[in-house]
Amino acid sequence: MQTKAINILGIETSCDETAAAVVADGRIIKSSIVSSQTKLHEKYGGVVPEIASRAHIEKIYPVITEAMEQAGVNKDNTDAIAVANQPGLTIALVVGVTAAKTLSLAWDKPLIAINHLHAHLQSAMLAKEDLELPAIALIVSGGHTCLYDYHSPLEPKLLGSTIDDAAGEAFDKVANILKLPYPGGPSIEKAAKNGNPNAIKFPRSMLGRDSLDFSFSGIKTAVLYYCRGQDMKGEDKVDWMNEREIADIAASFQAAVIDVLVKKTQRAAKKIGAETVLLGGGVAANSELREALQKMCDNAVPPKKLLIAPKQYCTDNAVMVASLAYHKFRAGLFAGLTLEPKAGSE
Ligand code: KG4
Ligand code: ZN
Repeated sequence: MQTKAINILGIETSCDETAAAVVADGRIIKSSIVSSQTKLHEKYGGVVPEIASRAHIEKIYPVITEAMEQAGVNKDNTDAIAVANQPGLTIALVVGVTAAKTLSLAWDKPLIAINHLHAHLQSAMLAKEDLELPAIALIVSGGHTCLYDYHSPLEPKLLGSTIDDAAGEAFDKVANILKLPYPGGPSIEKAAKNGNPNAIKFPRSMLGRDSLDFSFSGIKTAVLYYCRGQDMKGEDKVDWMNEREIADIAASFQAAVIDVLVKKTQRAAKKIGAETVLLGGGVAANSELREALQKMCDNAVPPKKLLIAPKQYCTDNAVMVASLAYHKFRAGLFAGLTLEPKAGSE
């Protein structure tokens, strides 16, 4: 006898993407709608929380409606409503949380609270699910850089995180220094393709022999000093640089960040004797990082399996929210209507 699929509607509004998706049984993607606010924040060179919140309010209803229509589901065959309620911008998160609570109440469906970072981690499981434990997971996004000891989708154990800037934040800030278009990550990657990664030796902060934490503010400052001089009083050399020089800085910066990410992941994998490495988050869309981590896993003795989020599910989306929610649904982990957004991660 065939059992009925569990359809979960996922909602994501933690930063600058309004997203909704319907996923069946945690793996079958029935729809994925993402309304990006890039155009609205472009001229400010970063996300403006107030603008993000207003845009979420405008888009949340059409985005959810489109996700339901595209998936061919209605309230009767939707089994639960899941929403990312932390971490993120509270005035952005509150829009998704309010929508999810409203639907849960109106449709009499269970509500599931999702940690956005754990959802990024889950997106690495969308590729294949034959996970061999123990596993190390690296999440690299605009707001976070985290290493987890991953035993199950419900219990990732945090081993280390950034003590200052996140990796994506460093990409965005360096793109700003180099006057490359917003968002910075993809712009740096594009510019770096024509550059020499060994042209400039930017610092690689490893924070002590055993540390699994990250620090990226030093490298960002090194790029700034390289372009404007140590005292910051000189001319902005970026204005006079040719494309090749910009490309060399982008490539050298990218190589330094990737070097740190790979070495720290290797260190963490060694520490727990990991069989598998998982990679997710916006920066995981970076081809050089994907390749470098693949090389590290292939060259390990014995080689490790690498599970990377499909490119379209690296940056913020609601598929990862609905997919993780399936595991919480099966475990009976539901939230009440008192659910609140939280800026930090628990
Ligand atoms: O996960 P995400 O969509 O949002 C947060 O949860 O923060 O990540 C966004 C971050 C931004 O900093 C963006 O510049 C970075 O991911 N990013 C990239 C690439 N694509 C997006 N960084 C490096 N290379 C890329 N191709
Ligand atoms: Zn994210």
